[in-house]
Amino acid sequence: MPGKKFQQLYDGEKKKIDKILSRSLQFREPVSLYNPAYYIIKNGGKRLRPVMVLFSCKSVGGRYNSAYNAAAAVELLHNFTLIHDDIMDNAEKRRGLPTLHVKYDLNTAVLAGDGMLAVAYEYLLKDCKNKKNIVISEFTKALIEICEGQALDKKFEVERNVTIADYLRMIQKKTASMLEMCCKTGGILGGGTEKEIKALASFGKNIGIAFQIHDDLLDIKGYEEFGKTTGGDLMEGKKTFLFLRALNKTRGKDKADLERMIENKGIKRTEVNYFIDLYKRNGIIEDAEAEILNYTKKAVKAVDTLKNENDKEVFRWLAGTLIKRNK
Ligand code: IPE
Ligand code: IPE
Ligand code: MG
Ligand code: MG
Ligand code: MG
Repeated sequence: MPGKKFQQLYDGEKKKIDKILSRSLQFREPVSLYNPAYYIIKNGGKRLRPVMVLFSCKSVGGRYNSAYNAAAAVELLHNFTLIHDDIMDNAEKRRGLPTLHVKYDLNTAVLAGDGMLAVAYEYLLKDCKNKKNIVISEFTKALIEICEGQALDKKFEVERNVTIADYLRMIQKKTASMLEMCCKTGGILGGGTEKEIKALASFGKNIGIAFQIHDDLLDIKGYEEFGKTTGGDLMEGKKTFLFLRALNKTRGKDKADLERMIENKGIKRTEVNYFIDLYKRNGIIEDAEAEILNYTKKAVKAVDTLKNENDKEVFRWLAGTLIKRNK
């Protein structure tokens, strides 16, 4: 199936997921809880995680129909993490619009996040059938890891000696664990064998690591349509892949500037362009791109063991589009 067909498939499934998501939050009371929750959902998003659930389910011989509610559940979980992440990161923009806590207020955003997590479980349970124990366990395990990863992400902001190995462990938890869980969940609901589920899990985990390094890169790319504030990670003093790589690679004034960012726990908005330039002249963008490619290749290799050629193709296509993504 050529790329255009895969894109149509993705877009078609995304539409169906969007419908379920709307239904999960709209027309529920009190609106003071559900309207803010619906605000972030209706503002868009790639819906990558639910599509990964569906593709994984299909790849082991299952039917999309047996996983739509679980697919909606992982997107609700994802949006819960985004709401709380934006509070923790002092982020102003998400999906091109004011973040939930800016649009409403902090208390509203905290509760909207909590509520979405609860609704996520409500939807997950609809699809579990006789696999309740394993499906709920995997979902819960990912949720715990996300919280642990987020705690490390915050802790690293104020630490001096964070290594790239520390960073990789952190993003494995905060980001890759969810993508791994999505692929596993699809595989389990589709009735996959242990071997198939393991291959899917490895795809999800490695794509997840690539995805977060790419997200770090997009923070400084400044695409208009990216929908977040350019340089947000720099302003918050985040130990991103770019930052840690630059710290290892530079000497002299560049290194001193990076160390100053650690000291001051971030930089001013007016300094963002200077630091982007610093990354550029030290080849940090190329380094990040090479690392993204490296993990993407690992992901693609993992699904080589799947039986059906078309299923392998869909994962290869997905990996290829993610490498090119600009939002
Ligand atoms: C953003 O996720 C948070 C990260 C884990 C990097 P996405 O880039 O998937 O955000 P949406 O859902 O498409 O807006
Ligand atoms: C996201 O990390 C991890 C989550 C669990 C949400 P980021 O903080 O980099 O995500 P964005 O860039 O704000 O979307
Ligand atoms: Mg953030
Ligand atoms: Mg964050
Ligand atoms: Mg980010």
